[in-house]
Amino acid sequence: MEKIILDVDTGIDDALAIILAEESGQLDILGITAVNGNVPVDTVMTNTKKMIQLMKQDSYTVYRGASRPLVRDAFHEFLVHGRDGLGGALAGMEVEPGDPQLFAPDFIIEQVKKYPGEVTLIMVGPLTNLALAIQKAPEALKKVKQVVIMGGLVQKAGFGNTLPTSEFNIFADAEAARIVFHAGLPVKLISLDVTTQTFLTREHIEQLKGTYYYDFVLKSTEIYRKYTKEKLGMDGCALHDPLTVGVVLDPTLVKTAKYYVDVETKGELSYGQTICDFRNLLKKEPNVEICLDVDAERFVEMFLKVLGKKEVR
Ligand code: BDR
Ligand code: CA
Repeated sequence: MEKIILDVDTGIDDALAIILAEESGQLDILGITAVNGNVPVDTVMTNTKKMIQLMKQDSYTVYRGASRPLVRDAFHEFLVHGRDGLGGALAGMEVEPGDPQLFAPDFIIEQVKKYPGEVTLIMVGPLTNLALAIQKAPEALKKVKQVVIMGGLVQKAGFGNTLPTSEFNIFADAEAARIVFHAGLPVKLISLDVTTQTFLTREHIEQLKGTYYYDFVLKSTEIYRKYTKEKLGMDGCALHDPLTVGVVLDPTLVKTAKYYVDVETKGELSYGQTICDFRNLLKKEPNVEICLDVDAERFVEMFLKVLGKKEVR
């Protein structure tokens, strides 16, 4: 089984990604790390513990990470995910107070050292935790197997979701993303170009009716689907973070190519833009594997199959 650490800013689609990773039965989850992002890190901790409880899982834990970006002020996404980050879906659930003493970036360093060449980092929030780990132990981090990141957009310029040029996770800590892209790690970028194609509709959700996660998926995505309907006229939501897990489960879901990619950290209109040098004008070594295409239908099928496995008990 592939050893993974899942770094999240839970978040509705983060929650769905956590379920996909757990219920796939194909991943050895070493731990989950929480980062400031969609909601403040304390809320991310609570939400992630709630997910672990919902999944009835106790073999791994959640580690608290960065409470703010490296340089800029914290930036959240309450409109899409709701004030509590889960669209109110688990509002009544209580979780145990008290967290592990280990800081999330230190947990990442510890695990990569313990299992050299074996750990896949799945990053579906801002990249602050990983940037801090790289700053502290750059050589140790080179022993990671791969880093699969939900972030950015490279082909569809102008179709960002935070600025026209920029995607939320990269925008929320562009300085951290820049450190990660230049650290010499094997990085795969699952960008908006492909994640917006993996769209979960209200009809898809109905296919889960009668199974364990139906209520959670229906309720948690309500606010997100409403937001999308207002923006795009469609009742559904993009599976950004679940696709990122999906690509680890089945890399053939996406067609990729390696290019030089950098992150804009100064631009007034373009802070957080991921710029891909398709024509090699900068004459730099390719550093990021980007996605050119996705088999969206096959992924949504996989997602529904995995989430629909668990019976109501
Ligand atoms: C990304 O931003 C967050 O709001 C989502 O959870 C996802 O990780 C999409 O841009
Ligand atoms: Ca996320």
